[in-house]
Amino acid sequence: MRRTLAIVVILAVAALVECKPKEAKRGIRTASQKLRAFMSGLRSRAVADPEERTARRLDVLSKLGFSAEVLRDLKALQMFSRADEDPFCDLKVDCSVDSNRAFVDGQEYRTQSGQCNNLDNYDWGLAGVQHKRLLTNAYDNGKWSARRKSVTGTNRNIVLLPGARKISNAVHATDSDKPLDKASLSSAFIYFLQFISHDITKTPEGDVPTNTDCCNSTNPFCLPIRVEVTDDFFSAGDCYDAQRSFTVLDCDDTSGFQNQINDITAYIDGSMVYGSSDAELKELRSFIGGYLKTSTANFMPEAEDTEDLACDNVEDPDLCFLAGDTRADVHPGLTTFHTVFVREHNRVAAYLGELNADWSDEKIFQETRRIVAAELQRITFNEMLPKVLDSSYVSKYGLSGSYSYNKSVDASVIQEFTFGYRFHNLMPAVFHMAELVGSSVGNTASHEQEDVWQSPGFLLTDNYRGVDHVLLGLVANGCPFINGLMNDASRNFLFVDENGDSFDLASINIERGREWGTPAYYLYRQMCGGVTISAWTDLASTHSADVIADLQSVYASPKDVDLWTGLVTETAVGTSIAGPTMSCLIGMQFANLRNGDRFWYETSDADLKFTTGQLSELKKVTLARVLCDNLDVATMPKDVFSTSGSWVDCSTISGMDLSFWAD
Ligand code: HEM
Ligand SMILES: *[C@@H]1O[C@H](CO)[C@@H](O)[C@H](O)[C@H]1NC(C)=O
Ligand SMILES: *[C@@H]1O[C@H](CO)[C@@H](O)[C@H](O)[C@H]1NC(C)=O
Repeated sequence: MRRTLAIVVILAVAALVECKPKEAKRGIRTASQKLRAFMSGLRSRAVADPEERTARRLDVLSKLGFSAEVLRDLKALQMFSRADEDPFCDLKVDCSVDSNRAFVDGQEYRTQSGQCNNLDNYDWGLAGVQHKRLLTNAYDNGKWSARRKSVTGTNRNIVLLPGARKISNAVHATDSDKPLDKASLSSAFIYFLQFISHDITKTPEGDVPTNTDCCNSTNPFCLPIRVEVTDDFFSAGDCYDAQRSFTVLDCDDTSGFQNQINDITAYIDGSMVYGSSDAELKELRSFIGGYLKTSTANFMPEAEDTEDLACDNVEDPDLCFLAGDTRADVHPGLTTFHTVFVREHNRVAAYLGELNADWSDEKIFQETRRIVAAELQRITFNEMLPKVLDSSYVSKYGLSGSYSYNKSVDASVIQEFTFGYRFHNLMPAVFHMAELVGSSVGNTASHEQEDVWQSPGFLLTDNYRGVDHVLLGLVANGCPFINGLMNDASRNFLFVDENGDSFDLASINIERGREWGTPAYYLYRQMCGGVTISAWTDLASTHSADVIADLQSVYASPKDVDLWTGLVTETAVGTSIAGPTMSCLIGMQFANLRNGDRFWYETSDADLKFTTGQLSELKKVTLARVLCDNLDVATMPKDVFSTSGSWVDCSTISGMDLSFWAD
């Protein structure tokens, strides 16, 4: 939580009021509550309640014979981590047993949790499994304590890494609105990237009771991020109330370190639409005609229990949409994609139901889910990835060649990938809504980015046409992109509340890497690039001279640079948005998500494949077509991720013919 000198607040507010007319209110939740809602809500583990979980840990420790004094000192948990044994490590699930898989009328579908996607390893890509690590952990004690030491120190003379906010200021700050990107990427691109990230990974936090202020607590799961030096926005002594991720003991008995988990299925399977467990899905389905539940005007259902959801509306504090992922409400751009794909599901389900009058609700539902997952895979690989990665990396990782399933590939999330894919530097400073007037599109409303966090209510404005106007705004407006730089919206005003408290997302990303024991950037550069990094000049092939100077102004050694910072500041290759090491991490993960997915839409497995006719229809799908089909819009660019194409009538954008699904 920020505790800023009053004068800084007044100056900052005055400066903003002067140049930016803004809404006065910022919801009812505090900044801390907003951050916690975003990453809490652990669902994949049986003991989801942090207090109950801590109690269970203590119980295990007491059975192991530890004294009451030791138990009272929660820090003991860090030393006696056997209490965190991961039940998934020893669990055996036999995937040859049908009941451990999902069949309808003899046809196999994905399980909801991802279980038994890989028949030899039931837990590959499963919701709740541990992240994989490419390199040995860099915890200071090898077990769980955050990476804090500079390589320039010695055992007797420890030198600490610079504070996260200091790095954020020196390396990631930009006080002006960034110019638009060279490849004319649209804002729709940014939020689709985020939408897909929420299909793949969510690393939950846990264990800190909701009323605990982590800036004034000895709870070992607290992660107070302290501002060391007064800057333009925060003051020395300010502190962000953040918490450590949920952990369990690594499955390899000998190493005994703490590892983070993925709360959702890794596969690109639409888990952000359908959830990652049967229980979540049950809340979302209507159980009639294969449909998902909706609310007035074909929106997602409104959630009743909103505490774990990232929503805090200015206009309507009670409005939170219920989606397959708890983060769906964090930004109206993201919520729009959620809405579109729920509508797409119901559009396809309606058609299949008419086509096959004898199909059950279950059959229609599963077949529709299979089609929607195929569409997401198609759009991700065909439209999105070629703009994330340079074509040389697309071919290097085999992301465009023909698919063949490799049962030795584990699709589970690589923890280092989650840093490679945090494209928080793409965030525009202003959020626009737009309308079509005749054949041209024009912005109608503009909001400072920090005024729209966690406000899904924008979708319901303009008599429920807000969703159309948000989407048009995303497609019509560009994406700012400069290697490594983040706008003030997310670097100073993240989840800002009525009191003016807020977070810096760059600092959180840096601190997260340390807290996870993620090794420094240079090791990944060496691994991916086959080079040796020992001096600052060795970064010249990946970073500009300006960036190297900025890094050098805070870090004592190039071997200290944090992974996220090193990746996001790499010079992007060609017209892509990723540098060489970032491309390597992203390429690897997406290759695994494809090659290790038994249900990949291009599979030739006789029991799982689409018919030739169906597959060629699926290959016609574009995001532009999906948007045309599910929003009240008459024209679209054929490539909605680019602002340079012309807008064409929706009727000229081809789509799939669902009659190929007649039984
Ligand atoms: C609407 C704007 C966005 C907001 C408010 C936001 C906020 C956040 C926050 C608060 C975290 C948690 C950080 C932590 O505690 O470690 C996070 C994580 C992450 N974000 Fe964003 N983000 C946004 C946009 C994006 C975009 C455009 C991407 C693009 C891919 C992205 C990708 C990720 C990824 C991959 C993670 C890590 C996920 C995990 O495994 O837990 N975010 N984001
Ligand atoms: C920190 O916590 C203690 C004990 O709960 C309390 O007495 C004190 O006022 C708190 N300090 C701040 C700055 O909130
Ligand atoms: C399948 O994946 C494994 C593990 O990544 C790899 O060693 C092997 O070469 C792959 N096989 C094929 C045919 O690509």
